[in-house]
Amino acid sequence: MLEIGPGSGNQLSRYDRSKVERIYGVEPNVDLHAALRATIKECGLSDVYTIVPCGVEDGEVLRKYGVEGESVDTVLSVQVLCGVPRPEVVVKELYRVLKPGGQMIVYEHVRSDDFVSRSVQRKCQEASSEVGRERLTWSRDL
Ligand SMILES: C[S@@+](CC[C@H](N)C(=O)[O-])C[C@H]1O[C@@H](n2cnc3c(N)ncnc32)[C@H](O)[C@@H]1O
Repeated sequence: MLEIGPGSGNQLSRYDRSKVERIYGVEPNVDLHAALRATIKECGLSDVYTIVPCGVEDGEVLRKYGVEGESVDTVLSVQVLCGVPRPEVVVKELYRVLKPGGQMIVYEHVRSDDFVSRSVQRKCQEASSEVGRERLTWSRDL
């Protein structure tokens, strides 16, 4: 399977080691790799988890690591699409590497249908921008 944006490995404890053969963690932020490696070890995934040091749009690097088109059974994205500049480009790439009939698991914060919640999201977005985190979006219509 392929996990995009694992960061320091917050989701790694959720993997059932008996059900995964190989995991490619595509993480462009190399400053997070040491923490990610530590979490991989802590979760007992050292023999199956490969860190791929690029954004998922970089097909050439993915290929170097053995991730070809239609090659993965499952794609996981947890709170990544809310922060990338062009989510549609990332999603296209995820479909490219996913086998036909494969699973795509996505968890994001998205725009709420509820007016009050949406107002809170707008305020959070403004506060994020003030502290220089413009790329984190609280209410994207994904
Ligand atoms: C908000 S963090 C989420 C971390 C982790 N998935 C979690 O659930 O805590 C977003 C992560 O996506 C990564 N990221 C940003 N752009 C990416 C891209 N184009 N391809 C893959 N990962 C990306 C960031 O470096 C960061 O580690």
